[in-house]
Formats: sequence, C-alpha cells, structure tokens
Amino acid sequence: MTMTQLIQLKKEKKTLDEAMIRFMIQGYTDGSIPDYQMSAMTMAILLNGMNDEESTHLALAMRDSGDVIDLSDIEGIKVDKHSTGGVGDKTSLIIAPLMAHFGLKLAKMSGRGLGHTGGTLDKLESIPGFQVVMSEKDFKHQVNTHDISIIGQSGDVAPADKKLYALRDVTATVDSMPLIASSIMSKKLASGADVIVLDVKVGDGAFMKDLDSARKLATLMVNIGHKAGKKVIAVLTNMSEPLGHYVGNAHEVFEAVETLLGKGPEDLNVIVSTLSAQLLVAANIFENEDIAYDAVMLALQKGVAYPYLKRMVEDQGGDGDQLLNMNSHIAKKTVHVISESSGYIKHIDALKVGQAGMALGAGRKVKTDEVDHSVGIVLKYKVGDKVEKGDILATLNVQDKGIEEAMALMKNAYTFTAESQDITLIYDIIAN
Ligand code: URA
Repeated sequence: MTMTQLIQLKKEKKTLDEAMIRFMIQGYTDGSIPDYQMSAMTMAILLNGMNDEESTHLALAMRDSGDVIDLSDIEGIKVDKHSTGGVGDKTSLIIAPLMAHFGLKLAKMSGRGLGHTGGTLDKLESIPGFQVVMSEKDFKHQVNTHDISIIGQSGDVAPADKKLYALRDVTATVDSMPLIASSIMSKKLASGADVIVLDVKVGDGAFMKDLDSARKLATLMVNIGHKAGKKVIAVLTNMSEPLGHYVGNAHEVFEAVETLLGKGPEDLNVIVSTLSAQLLVAANIFENEDIAYDAVMLALQKGVAYPYLKRMVEDQGGDGDQLLNMNSHIAKKTVHVISESSGYIKHIDALKVGQAGMALGAGRKVKTDEVDHSVGIVLKYKVGDKVEKGDILATLNVQDKGIEEAMALMKNAYTFTAESQDITLIYDIIAN
C-alpha cells in the first residue's frame, strides 16, 4: 500500500478501509508520509467526503496516534464538554465548577483560540499566575482531590490531529465535516471521560453556518462516540450573535464569574444550564433534564458553584482573589460604537464581532501571534433590544492595536428592524 494509491482512491470517490486509514495516520504521525501528500489527501476528503465508517476509523486512528488518558483510577463519573468554537463562549469556565458542585469530575483538555473564535486556555491565562501546563499525574491528582481541572492538550494526546489540524489550517481544508468530526472526537476519546457533551454551534460565528450541516456534524460525532463506547450528547446552540455581553479573555472570565454569582445574562444562563443538565442526567445525578435544568439555574442564582472555580484556579497556580477583580485586568482605554439607527436589533454578526476582537489583539491570526488578554468588547445590547440613534451599542476596551479595523467591523455587525423578535437559543439535542 502506498499513500499515492490512497490519494488516487479518494480522488475517485472510493471508500478507504480501516487498514488504509491507520496506515495513513501512522505514516503521517511518524513523518514517513510528507505534508504534500497529506495535503492532497485532505483536499480529496474535503471535495469527495467520507462515509460514517471512514470518519469513525479516522477518529479512532487519530485517537490511537498518541496517549489515551486513563482516568479509571479517578473515583466517580468523569464528564467532559467541548464546543465546536464560538464568540463569547465562556461556558466551560462555568460548567466545570457546576459539575464539581453536583458531585461529578471534569478533567478537561482545552484548546487555544484560533481565528475569530476564542479558546478556554487563553481566557484562563488572563488570571494572574494560572498554569495550563501540567503533568498527567498532577492533572489526575487534582481531579481526584478537587474534582476539576482544565489544562492544555498534552503533546502526546492525538498528535496526528495536532499535525493535521495545522496542515488543514494553511491548506483551506478545515471546513470538511468528516475532518472536523474526526478531529474533535479523536481528542475527546483520548481524554478519557465517561460522558461527553458537545456544544455544536450554529450561525455566522460558527464553523457550521446552517442548521442542516450542524445537525449532520452532530450526528456524525455522536455516532463516532457510540462506536467508541462513550455516551455522547450533542446540543445544537445558536451562534448567530455572540454569547453573553463580553468578548475577549479577561472580559469573558469576568462574565463567567458574574454568571456563577447569579448575575449572568439570560442566553448564557440558558445554554450553560442546558449543557449541564445533559451531563447531569447522563451521569445519573438527576432523573430528567427539566429537574436538572432547574437545579443548575438555582445553583447559579445562589452562587454555590463559584468556590469550585476559585479552588481550581488556586490549584493551578492562579491568584483566586483576582477572580472578583477581573475588571481591573480589562484595558482602560475605551472606544464606543454608536448606533446610527433607531429600532430593534435584528442581528449582531458574531463573526464580525469575533474578528473585531481579534483585530484588537484578543485572538490570533496565526498560531504564533501573542494574545493581549486585556482587550475586548462589551456589547451593551443584544438581539431583540430596542435602541435609539446615538445610543452606545458596544464599548471596545483597547490598547493601541487594530482600533480602526475593529470599529469598521463593529459598525457593520448590526442590523435593525422595526419590530422586536425572539431568538432561538437551543435548536436540537442529539444523543446516542
Ligand atoms: N475544532 C477541532 O478541534 N477540530 C476541527 O477540525 C475544528 C474545530
């Protein structure tokens, strides 16, 4: 078998079997298959697709390309949560302590932001001292003793995906359903949780722009999880406007803390409670989703999960007291986006808001860019709110970088309508 033969097969829309996929992933991981052949293959997959079996083989081969974390010596039910990437998405920072409050363990390996979407690790690093690098032994110890930990993906977890993702990023082959599903699931299956909830974002600010494609992606990931013997639930959530009011790194930690203390915005409360309720029912903590959802909402109102976040931050070297002082880590210089229309906000383009944050320095255009944790955007209004001409729509907290570009994006992010409207936050839930 040669890689040239496999590329030829995929070019002819033929199916690759498990042995072929394992040969390809093993060769790419050990360097015997070069980038140029893998680029041709990823483009052939993007153009000609893969069936569910091929996607599953690909996910499992990438999972097995490195360490598969064994959490079996951690007592209790281990849960994990993953988002396909959005703008203003700080849900992991809220769900982790909620899980601890309800007696579950969350051992999460997270990613950095790339492009317009934020990453949990960058957000956590806006807390002074917080460490995202930890040995597997310390990671497990922390989860065993203190229930939750969020760290960076260790170099040895799904290394094939790491290499392949970087290649896809520069060869315009990220947006392929089988490649996205296998990439996400390879990491989730390698990180050892018993129950996984996937937040599949739909809309401008997400990889999946429409509900149909998001549903297909979610179903594929749930099926891959099932074949690997894991309980996986996908929740399709709206990413056509940013989540919550705060976009940026210190900004999002601030809003996550506010939410844990019962002062969160409605959309964030609803999405966090829905995702958490799925985990809690799947882990047999509550009988049904409605009871679980109400319990999570109550926990948010009462602020009972906040201490678990503080403890996790301190366990990982961070200054826990700063969590109540995140405002002081937000850039002081401000620029306002002023409304040029009166009416109800019809749409806030999440992609443009994410790109505006990136222009200010909150995200990376290329992997090597430094992130500025202090810059970001505060949206004063959300879809459905009434505004008058001259009102401040949003405030940008800036340093010196990208202000003009960010302002141009923000001005174009809003559309208005004469009538108020509601927004659907949860589109669907798909489980195996
Ligand atoms: N997130 C991932 O981890 N992989 C993808 O391919 C897309 C989003």
